[in-house]
Amino acid sequence: MAGQTAELKVHPAAALTDGNIVIIGAQWGDEGKGKIVDLLAGQAQAVVRFQGGHNAGHTLELAGKQTILHLIPSGILHEGVQCLIGNGVVLSPRALLDEIAILEEQGAQVRAKLRVSAACALVLPSHVLLDRAREQARGAVAIGTTGRGIGPAYEDRAARRALRVADLCAPGQLEDKLRVTLDFHNFLLKNYYGAQTADYQQLLDELLAMAAELAHIVADVSGILHKLCQQGDRVLFEGAQGALLDIDHGAYPFVTSSNTTAGAAATGSGVGPSHFDCILGVAKVYATRVGHGPFPTELTDTTGERLRAQGGEFGATTGRPRRCGWLDAVALRRAVRLNGLTALCVTKLDVLDGVDGLKICTGYRLNGETLTVPPVDAAALAQCEPRYEELPGWDQPTAGLTDYAALPGNAKAYLQRIEALCEAPIRMVSTGPAREQVILRGVD
Ligand code: GDP
Ligand code: IMO
Ligand code: MG
Repeated sequence: MAGQTAELKVHPAAALTDGNIVIIGAQWGDEGKGKIVDLLAGQAQAVVRFQGGHNAGHTLELAGKQTILHLIPSGILHEGVQCLIGNGVVLSPRALLDEIAILEEQGAQVRAKLRVSAACALVLPSHVLLDRAREQARGAVAIGTTGRGIGPAYEDRAARRALRVADLCAPGQLEDKLRVTLDFHNFLLKNYYGAQTADYQQLLDELLAMAAELAHIVADVSGILHKLCQQGDRVLFEGAQGALLDIDHGAYPFVTSSNTTAGAAATGSGVGPSHFDCILGVAKVYATRVGHGPFPTELTDTTGERLRAQGGEFGATTGRPRRCGWLDAVALRRAVRLNGLTALCVTKLDVLDGVDGLKICTGYRLNGETLTVPPVDAAALAQCEPRYEELPGWDQPTAGLTDYAALPGNAKAYLQRIEALCEAPIRMVSTGPAREQVILRGVD
């Protein structure tokens, strides 16, 4: 196994030392992106979110204190780091104001550092009603959404009837647009779903009140990013969800409603892809998924329960227990390719401490054939049976280690096998939830 890392073609930017970094989830979300963005933000001038909404839950741990962020970029705990919400994010003004209030109560400076794109489409309470009504109507084939209204908000954006942050700053425009959009939502809610509707006047009053609170943080985020890039400042582009939940590339329809892959960092923030120097994919050393949909390596036995308990695998947004399973190298390699990853950061190595007989999925069996690339169709994926390779575990604790050399030999072998199977170099290894619990690896 020795030498495998050195043999990989390492992109020069993989050293993570210079330039702008796109950080995305390389599995089904909750890989530990928040922790990694928070860590890297210490050497950056700005962090921008570019897709998703408050369906995200990004956990930071600093000095024993946990902070969970949903919309606010994970650089917010650093002094002097600008935090930007790009046009690709669907923004619930209520959720944003609540999050700002919680952070400010805890002593964080938020408003001075936070800027929101005027081009973000809004998530309204009627989107939440629609999301929930749709899930209920789907019954047994529900997606298992977070119930935050994200899908319906993106639908409105694509249908060109969304209200945007810019409308909050133009009251006459807001009234007219809200009337048209809400009429449509209420028509669907009442006549198609037989569900509760939303009150126009109440919603308008709420939006006007929130608009006054948000007006001073609305900005041209693309313009701010352009200036930062011009003056050589370092920007982190923070993904939400994960590549396998991508609206196009995931197991449709068991996906989220945005492109979660690295290309969205450009369209969702208003920066050209030539500004990206490194694309870092974050992946757990095992796999989890919340919500429904195919998950070939899922473990419904005591090993799955052990991973859930040891890894604290409960949703940061909804509190739902996460489905747990072995690392799926077929899916992860797909994510490496979809994103053009230049480096991997693997997290939660410590959770595997003491687990013997580790398995990595290296292929799927489908209709008598072995696949090394996941099928596009969700129904076919659901039929796939994982083929595993077994590796020995380790007994010595890795929790909190910061030095690669100190890792047990079997842990190193496990990581090297991931690199070889997924065709990407591992440049960071997270060994605990706290900011400093991480191993940084240079280019060999
Ligand atoms: P995100 O959505 O990708 O930011 O991830 P979440 O915050 O939803 O879930 C990751 C969880 O794992 C959080 O509770 C983190 O505090 C925790 N975490 C992150 N890295 C590590 C690690 O290396 N070891 C352990 N034990 N926990 C970690
Ligand atoms: P972070 O950024 C994990 C999942 C939901 C559901 C599907 C669609 O914390 O990694 P949606 O509400 O987006 O329409 O739900 O996507 N999902 C996530 N799973 N982490 C997330 O975000 C997620 N955001 C959405 O569970 O399966
Ligand atoms: Mg999360």
